[in-house]
Amino acid sequence: MKYQKFLQGMFTLLLLLLCGCGNEKQSTETLTLVTAAGFPPYEFINGQQIVGIDVDIARAVARKLKRELVVIDTKFDSVIGHIVTGKADIAASGITVTEERKKKVIFTIPYSRSAQVILVPRNSSIKCGEDLKKNKRVGCQSGTTAYDYLRQHIITRKNSPLLQQFDNPSVAVEALKIGKLDAVVLDEEPAQVLAKLNPGAVVFLKEPLTSEEYAIAINKNNRELCGIVNAVIKELKDSGELRQMFERNTTLAKQVREMEKEGQFSSFFHRLSDDFQTNFITDNRWLYIWGGFLKTVQISFWAVILGIILGFAVAVVRATHDRTGKMKFLNFLCRIYLTVIRGTPCVVQLLIIYFIILKSCDNKVLVACIAFGINSGAYVAEIIRSGIMSIDKGQFEAGDALGLSYWQTMRYIILPQALKNVLPALGNEFIVLIKETSVSGYIALQDLTKAGDIIRSQTYDAFMPLIAVAAIYLACVMLLTWLLGIFERRLKRNE
Ligand code: ARG
Repeated sequence: MKYQKFLQGMFTLLLLLLCGCGNEKQSTETLTLVTAAGFPPYEFINGQQIVGIDVDIARAVARKLKRELVVIDTKFDSVIGHIVTGKADIAASGITVTEERKKKVIFTIPYSRSAQVILVPRNSSIKCGEDLKKNKRVGCQSGTTAYDYLRQHIITRKNSPLLQQFDNPSVAVEALKIGKLDAVVLDEEPAQVLAKLNPGAVVFLKEPLTSEEYAIAINKNNRELCGIVNAVIKELKDSGELRQMFERNTTLAKQVREMEKEGQFSSFFHRLSDDFQTNFITDNRWLYIWGGFLKTVQISFWAVILGIILGFAVAVVRATHDRTGKMKFLNFLCRIYLTVIRGTPCVVQLLIIYFIILKSCDNKVLVACIAFGINSGAYVAEIIRSGIMSIDKGQFEAGDALGLSYWQTMRYIILPQALKNVLPALGNEFIVLIKETSVSGYIALQDLTKAGDIIRSQTYDAFMPLIAVAAIYLACVMLLTWLLGIFERRLKRNE
């Protein structure tokens, strides 16, 4: 049939496009550091690299172990999770030692002191911690000790809209600057850097709210590594090298940002082209977008394929059971699958597959393909089942009369017609799927959305990266809609 050829052609084309991307397997001779960049001077992005005090310390540890350092950048609230599940060897992310965290990981000796402090806009009426209690909207990074402090002492009411959590402290500061927040609470040194970078707009209140110590977190089963890291930290302290790391990175963090800010613009178009320059051209940042785009296409493609296979299988089982009463057990399993998958959010499923089911799999792209494929399969199944049910019963009887078996009737008569009827609905499902993959960043996979986030955390500009990412998703969906339109017309012509 003509449309089969068409499908084959498209399949090959996409396969060509996709091969070669995304094998993230690591060798055993590496030391994996997990961190949450965007916390200068401890970890921040300089060009294409994650740098900072924590990275420097980790590099010293890797040198000691004669291993190569691999850095995973994720959200702060999943840093500890990476250690607990063994996805990384050490976590250095300006992590405060707390009793709660000590239950899950072991900490090295501390390498720095810090405190939670307050950032406010200029002319703010907030002068000290107590003022935060006066119905103020306060922002912090999620999963941090800033959040714990605020919940325990300032905004104690659960789910209060006054307490807002952000993935990244610099995003919280952006919100502060445009008046969406009255204050941001965060660690002292990043606060100092961020205040210096926004002179005139953001003010740093000197009063410390807490007193904290940073240490490196390691899996409880890896005491040996902890001993080695302790020795390294001690050496770095004694030799004065740690001090130098602080100075070097503090200066670098400021330079990076100042470079971004250089060339303030006169006209709107000037500014637009400048923004374009900083967000995409400087440091070849467009490479993030391109790499992210490839990953998004790759994940969506394989997830669609897996979804179709699963969906077809489940739909046939369910429809057969509905019509003939056979396949009771399989039907039961399928119903559990549909209930669980459709009843839980896709992000949660992705996290469960990454952190629990495929705990030892380091290939994030593979994990994402599987997670989104399984998710999509449930919706595809119901769409195809509705297609099958829409075919007149007489058709089965006709198949019977022609001497075809049940399965032959299904294969040659029912499914082709069903598919044609549900094509628009299926197309819709694929469109949803492409966009759904944008939650991949939750497992630190650098898909298209995450690529935009990375650029945002470097340039502190929300407009360009977000619009670019949105435009690319839109283009993908439009392309898909167009292809499905062609496919639908072919099917019609074959009628
Ligand atoms: N010290 C705080 C904590 O442990 C915040 C650390 C945030 N770190 C980061 N890389 N964003 O909760």
